[in-house]
Amino acid sequence: MPTPATLDALLVEERVFRPAPATVIEANVKPADLAEAYRLAEADPLAFWEKAALELEWHRKWDAVLDASNAPFHRWFPGARGNIVHNALDRHVHIWTKNKLALIWEGEAGDCRKFTYFELYREVNRLACALRALGVSRGDRVCLYLPPIPETVVAMLAAAKVGAVHVFVFAGYSAKFLRERLSDSRAKVLVTADGFYRGGRCINLKAVVDEALDGVAGDAAETVVVVRRTGADIDMREPRDLYYHDLLRQESPEAATEIMEAGDPLFWLPTSGTTGRPKSIVHGHGGYMVGAHHTFRTVFDIKPTDIHFCTADPGWITGHTYGVFGPLLTGASVFLYEGHPLYPQADRLPSIIERYGATIFYTTPTLIRMLMRYGPQYPKKRDLSTLRLLGSVGETLSPEAWMWFYKHIGRSNCPVLDTWWQTETGMAMLSPMPISVLKPGSVGKALPGVAAAVVDGQGHSVPPGQGGFLVLKTPWPGMLTGLAGDEAGYKEAYWDKIPGVYFAGDVARRDEDGYFWIQGRADDVLNIAGHRLGTAEIEAALCAHRFVAEAAVIGVPDKIKGEVAKAFVVADPAWVSALPDADALASQLREHVRRELGPIAVIRAVELRQSLPRTRSGKILRRVLKAEELGEPVPPLSGEEA
Ligand code: WTA
Repeated sequence: MPTPATLDALLVEERVFRPAPATVIEANVKPADLAEAYRLAEADPLAFWEKAALELEWHRKWDAVLDASNAPFHRWFPGARGNIVHNALDRHVHIWTKNKLALIWEGEAGDCRKFTYFELYREVNRLACALRALGVSRGDRVCLYLPPIPETVVAMLAAAKVGAVHVFVFAGYSAKFLRERLSDSRAKVLVTADGFYRGGRCINLKAVVDEALDGVAGDAAETVVVVRRTGADIDMREPRDLYYHDLLRQESPEAATEIMEAGDPLFWLPTSGTTGRPKSIVHGHGGYMVGAHHTFRTVFDIKPTDIHFCTADPGWITGHTYGVFGPLLTGASVFLYEGHPLYPQADRLPSIIERYGATIFYTTPTLIRMLMRYGPQYPKKRDLSTLRLLGSVGETLSPEAWMWFYKHIGRSNCPVLDTWWQTETGMAMLSPMPISVLKPGSVGKALPGVAAAVVDGQGHSVPPGQGGFLVLKTPWPGMLTGLAGDEAGYKEAYWDKIPGVYFAGDVARRDEDGYFWIQGRADDVLNIAGHRLGTAEIEAALCAHRFVAEAAVIGVPDKIKGEVAKAFVVADPAWVSALPDADALASQLREHVRRELGPIAVIRAVELRQSLPRTRSGKILRRVLKAEELGEPVPPLSGEEA
């Protein structure tokens, strides 16, 4: 990573990139607008966000922009009423966007489906009517366990339309994970699919659902709506299981949109923290909508002619904010792909860009590193000249990967926006703008209206260039409204670590120009291929295996995935004599964790130990294991740890 330097010094070294004149001329936010945005946001942040809220339609305006009287339970736009679906869908059928493509989708086999805003509206309304007929109403939870297919977008919007809260469980999560989220949320209805295609295989998703529903809490998932995607032979249990298409056939394409309070929940997304259980991040209708719309319009600089290709699955926050809601709120055309990014070969993503004429490509460092591994000949074979903007999210994009992305995908012609944000923030917080001077490896400055800082453990700002904790000093509209069913956990995880500020859990530094450089997590959360996984969750999964008495998990660097897990386990004394050999044990435990958590929990190695290093109070000293593993000096124990 470059040492902190001023812009001028970096320019001399040609490590910064100035925007092309055409980018500046065509930008939605020109340099003078950006300067004015920073000025207003600094002078009066609430006036700044109010202006952003006024770009959208509301059923009733707010009594105040922000109610901070019960901090940290901030309420954005109290008194305001509306529904995100009104802005993302309903209003488009009355304006010129009505017959514009909202969604273009390609299946892994190359099959393609397209929906104009009007067609998407009709489909969403049909599902909304069907959900109502199934007894779903305002405030009820609807669980979505769906792959990246058009019906996923339809289900997200239909649930929101009837005022229900969608609880999205990424289709790569395990049966156990799904069962727990269904039980936690008491979702009335589960919307899923028979399966999907990935990497040339037909994945039977319904079989996972059937396993999850075995033993689910009482009244959860009384009805299961199944989208027929693959046509595979699946078990349909009557009267619980209904086919989506049968259900919709009888329904009307007109449904009323429920009028919600701004703070009413829109969705829950589970994500990992430092405890053994995932937490469910809650986002609401009003603030989230303002954050998603404003940042998508300004940062992604969206134009009526754009085709926005976001590689993130809608089951993650990136897919929510910049794959579905942000684009639809701005009337953009969004592209969704079902399958594996390298299937049938390494030019699949460049081929999609070429064939659909994508103009924006928003992806992850893991995918960029995968493309790098296969070499520039793949993108070179394709015409990528429609691209005008590149984006990255989820992990640190090294200067080397940044340069490769810029050169071989962007043809040295597109700004690369490395955006930093989280499931919790709901919207991009640190990011260059298309007109910014770009520094490879940096996530740029805090966006206007975002008060980010790098501080020490007491909350004091550290000097430029010095590492510290990344915090957000003031609330922002896209922020989580809380953790489902866990008020104390919300306060403790985000607001009590350093009193008065939001603790992001990342380590960063800010240089003399105000550019941020993300250095990794400050807590025991791994980032495996851009997916967050708490070491405690993997440890809990390992300990659920009969051979394991204790387990500790650390992250170790990986060339493609950024980081993968390594597990240290102490065998259960009752089983010591019956343990298989080391390789067989490792593969059994790997398979077990995969079943417990899903394929995103990648364990590279398993090491059997007699004991684990612990503090006096019994906490596992993962950093000691990590230092040993990486051959680094073992850090001295702090007073508390000794
Ligand atoms: C990491 C994804 C470096 C970070 C939107 C954060 C990043 C976590 C970046 C959130 C980036 C996200 N550079 N690291 N541009 N963006 N991260 O909730 O550690 O899946 O806290 O949200 O990913 O991951 P999440």
